[in-house]
Amino acid sequence: MGIRQRVGLKFKDEIEFLKGWKRDRTAVGAITPTSVATARKMASVIRPDSGLPVLELGPGTGVITKAILKRSVHPRDLISIEYSPEFCRHLRHQFPEVDVRCGDAFALDLTLGAQRQAKFDCVISAIPLLHLPPEKRLSLVLDLLERVPVGRPVVQITYGLLSPVVALPAGYEIRHLAFMMRNIPPAQLWTYTKRPERKN
Ligand SMILES: C[S@@+](CC[C@H](N)C(=O)[O-])C[C@H]1O[C@@H](n2cnc3c(N)ncnc32)[C@H](O)[C@@H]1O
Repeated sequence: MGIRQRVGLKFKDEIEFLKGWKRDRTAVGAITPTSVATARKMASVIRPDSGLPVLELGPGTGVITKAILKRSVHPRDLISIEYSPEFCRHLRHQFPEVDVRCGDAFALDLTLGAQRQAKFDCVISAIPLLHLPPEKRLSLVLDLLERVPVGRPVVQITYGLLSPVVALPAGYEIRHLAFMMRNIPPAQLWTYTKRPERKN
């Protein structure tokens, strides 16, 4: 692809994003699309040989979707859940083989439908959480952790200093994955995992 086409595509993403942002600033939660460096870092947790699909939440313009597919995840092994119908249309056009679900990440059983019992290798989430009450953030993370094997991560991007979920029940762990300066605004990446049970 030539430089003109590449710049054109990138610019199209920015326009899509700004349109979404103008419509609903709270749900979009950021002022520009996630940077490629941040998207790559989030996707770096994927184990492409796990044989399990990947769950993506809040794909927006698809920057993270692209990074996930670059990790050798087959498009059919990716479910991306996006709230905004406009972003969904754009994503389906951009990634025709990815299973884009237009729905709510906070009603996963409903949004996943027949796949509600599925296990995923990991969850990669760009859902804005900071405007939500702490109980709602926690219940989302706990729900997501039931959908991945023990020890596998839920990755969350956030623009605050601290993890958007500050405490988990015993047996769960919060880890700082990275601070991404190359992102507007700079972003923090956190992972949440369920620890294996100790055998005595
Ligand atoms: C910070 S933006 C994602 C940016 C994306 N990484 C990009 O570069 O375009 C958050 C996205 O989450 C979506 N979203 C917010 N709340 C959601 C929900 N409850 N369920 C599904 N998607 C949601 C928004 O529509 C928006 O596209």
